[in-house]
Amino acid sequence: MINIKIKKLLLKKKKTKIVSLTAYSKNIAKILDKYADIILVGDSMANVLYGHKNTHKISLENIIQHTLSVKMGIKKSLLVVDMPKGSYNSKKNALKNAEFVIKKTGCDAIKLENYKTNYEIIKAIVKKNIPVMGHIGYTPQFKKKFKIAGQTKLEIKKLLKQAKLIEKAGAFSIVLECLSPDSAKLITKELSIPTIGIGSSSNCDGQILVTDDMLGISGFYPKFVKKYVKLDRIIEKAVKKYTREVKLKKFPAIKNNLNGQIRRK
Ligand code: KIV
Repeated sequence: MINIKIKKLLLKKKKTKIVSLTAYSKNIAKILDKYADIILVGDSMANVLYGHKNTHKISLENIIQHTLSVKMGIKKSLLVVDMPKGSYNSKKNALKNAEFVIKKTGCDAIKLENYKTNYEIIKAIVKKNIPVMGHIGYTPQFKKKFKIAGQTKLEIKKLLKQAKLIEKAGAFSIVLECLSPDSAKLITKELSIPTIGIGSSSNCDGQILVTDDMLGISGFYPKFVKKYVKLDRIIEKAVKKYTREVKLKKFPAIKNNLNGQIRRK
């Protein structure tokens, strides 16, 4: 049975752009949920939250823990969970772990990065009624260098073939990461499932960004990221003010004292 949120998403292709962002916790997810079609619990948490150099060491337990938090903030968005590196390195492992993630978190779908021929793995997971999102181009779990994909005719042909095989395997959508505008355009035109771009131009059916990047708090701002706010500066200003007030004994003020009740009226 097809998930109703996925049905709605498929209907959006070519009609209106699909809005996606990452979240790792409830409070952020709650804000995103008002606007986003898709919320991804990305393994980018490895870099963004845990300060790792790459995404390789995030565990299934880490992903599940953060998904449970994100889920508490979501009412309507499609909740997609990134499968960490090593969790889908064989059909058996992939099925076991995908079912475990769905059972533990109640998420709507999982995302797998493309690696060699994991189309059979996608097919097997989809057959178990677990919706899968694909991911091609720059795939941080398997590529060392940040590189633009699809810059030659041959590369474009290869990417299109990968995308078509992922669609054929039953994925309901696909992330295109750091693809040239031409390859993103061709793949989006040729596929009937929605393409979600990151660093892949507006030639995609939707866009995704790492929320901490677009809020200006991650310290990682490649050209394809637009900082919609410099949240680091806003937070620093607030922390500075708090520090000054504590030192000057301005905080806590009398109105913050507890006299018989905890909540504000
Ligand atoms: O982990 C992540 O945040 C992602 C997005 C960049 C698509 O995979």
